[in-house]
Amino acid sequence: MKILVVGSGGREHALVWKLAQSQHTTKMWCLPGNAGIAQERLSSNGEVVECIKISPEDLPGLLQFAKVQRPDLTVVSSDNPLGMGIVDLFQKEGLVIWGPNKRAAQFESSKAFSQQFMERYGVPTAASGVFSSFQEAIDFAKSLHGRCAVKVDGLALGKGVFVCNDMQEAENGIKTILQDKTFGEAGARVVIQEYLDGTEISLHALCDGNTWRLFPTSQDHKRIYANDLGPNTGGMGAYSPTPFLSEEEFQKVARSVLEPWFAGCKAEGIDYRGILYPGVMLTKSGPKVLEFNARFGDPETQVYLPRLKNDLVELLMASVEGTLHHISLEFSNSPTVCVVLASQGYPGKYIAGKKIAGLDSVSSLPCTKVFHSGTKLSEDVILTQGGRVLGVTAWGNTLREAHKRAYMAVGQIHFDGVYYRPDIAQKAFVDNQ
Ligand code: AMP
Ligand code: GLY
Repeated sequence: MKILVVGSGGREHALVWKLAQSQHTTKMWCLPGNAGIAQERLSSNGEVVECIKISPEDLPGLLQFAKVQRPDLTVVSSDNPLGMGIVDLFQKEGLVIWGPNKRAAQFESSKAFSQQFMERYGVPTAASGVFSSFQEAIDFAKSLHGRCAVKVDGLALGKGVFVCNDMQEAENGIKTILQDKTFGEAGARVVIQEYLDGTEISLHALCDGNTWRLFPTSQDHKRIYANDLGPNTGGMGAYSPTPFLSEEEFQKVARSVLEPWFAGCKAEGIDYRGILYPGVMLTKSGPKVLEFNARFGDPETQVYLPRLKNDLVELLMASVEGTLHHISLEFSNSPTVCVVLASQGYPGKYIAGKKIAGLDSVSSLPCTKVFHSGTKLSEDVILTQGGRVLGVTAWGNTLREAHKRAYMAVGQIHFDGVYYRPDIAQKAFVDNQ
């Protein structure tokens, strides 16, 4: 099969790496890809993955490419093209594409839509309100004594959430979104949620419109600094599984979210095919959904896919075709850890174009894989090209072993200003082992 993957991040590298292992895959393109993706080879015939510079937001460009090359499957797992309706566009041309259609992708592209949907169908979530009026937003935040999360309704590259401890912070967040219009149209409305205390986990459910299959637990590390301090980022590292829930508790949490969500989709005729990724806070009064994403998480994908035993092409095709009920997901018991190496200054301004050293020596380490997030090849040298640069991933018999391997590899890679969190997966040790 000819496979087209859209995107250029660490998640896409992990997807390409896994799809390339399938015997079904005989040709693969990644648009635009990155330096690591361009080094991947297909297991079936040794061909390299071809990266071509077309932006994931250039829908006409992507469609034109697909109409010429006629891939048998296109895989999209980035919020922007999904929110813009790439799936509907490709389907109109008779192209097979994996990911939720525009209506289904609203679970991520509009937090207001999601919040109101959750309330309609009893999906457990935070007490909340949706506002376009500055004064009404302020009044609601006051009713929560300023302890709240103020969120841009639309897509904002993971930067549209202000987690506030007091009224001053809440007012600043509301002002930035509604009055300063820093996020443009995406911020025409704000969602304000009560502040939820607890342990945050990521759920991933592969859906086919009729049923779902659960991935194991994982935990992202969203803040830039150790001990969950500093601003939010796209994700500084992840591990899977998490020790916070027994299998039975995990199934219970997932059912409490997915059953009402799915019933709501049925009632409203939303045909959800793709990954639904709810961010869930485990609070004292039960699990509560913070937000929905309509795609694989980054860096959660980097820790899930090394553990996945199924053929990913078959899984994604089953999700597209509505045949997931025939399949069960199988994961290795090897805990996996991913540590993100970022550019100095991220998630604010950073300088790109730094030479990356050490990738060759790390490539021979056992049970270790470096996924590229923001890299490019320039005259045979791999350079940084993004805030998040690499996802150094390792697995082992225990989480401690995986953790040790990941940080050992991290220690061998260098670029000017390299920054990473020293405490990825630490919570699993401190609280539970
Ligand atoms: P979101 O993009 O909505 O998941 O928000 C980004 C991050 O902000 C989440 O991963 C949480 O760490 C934090 N956050 C979001 N909503 C809340 C909330 N209601 N209470 C506490 N923290 C939150
Ligand atoms: N892991 C955070 C995200 O993918 O949005």
